[in-house]
Amino acid sequence: MERRLFLQLLGVTAAAACAGCLASCSKSGNNLSPSGNPNPSAVSIDLNSQLLQVGDYVVSNGIIIARLASGNTPADFTALSAFCTHQGTIISYVASENLFYCPAHGSEFSTNGAVLRGPATSPLKQYTVQINNNILTVS
Ligand code: FES
Repeated sequence: MERRLFLQLLGVTAAAACAGCLASCSKSGNNLSPSGNPNPSAVSIDLNSQLLQVGDYVVSNGIIIARLASGNTPADFTALSAFCTHQGTIISYVASENLFYCPAHGSEFSTNGAVLRGPATSPLKQYTVQINNNILTVS
């Protein structure tokens, strides 16, 4: 990984850790399904207070949701399984590179979950984003 990307990730990771703490205290919580898999039915993101800036992301119920553009339509977001398909580490969104990065071994994924760099060989599951009254849900 390039030094620049690494340093950017550190900043993003710190922000994500804070966001994760806040998210875990919010009503969205982090309820994985009983099997430990992502639980899309439990994701509810209030766009009035979360994901306000392009590049913001949250991990909720095993799903990582990132804002890709400034609007509030489903196309302005992406929602993927937050678990790297290599060995299950939680991934991060790197806005400056417009990709998802796994800090464990360096796998990278596109915004639709395709593998850009291994060791992961399988794509991340992508979920459908819906928005009603500024509440983002996934299915
Ligand atoms: S767990 Fe993600 S690259 Fe290994």
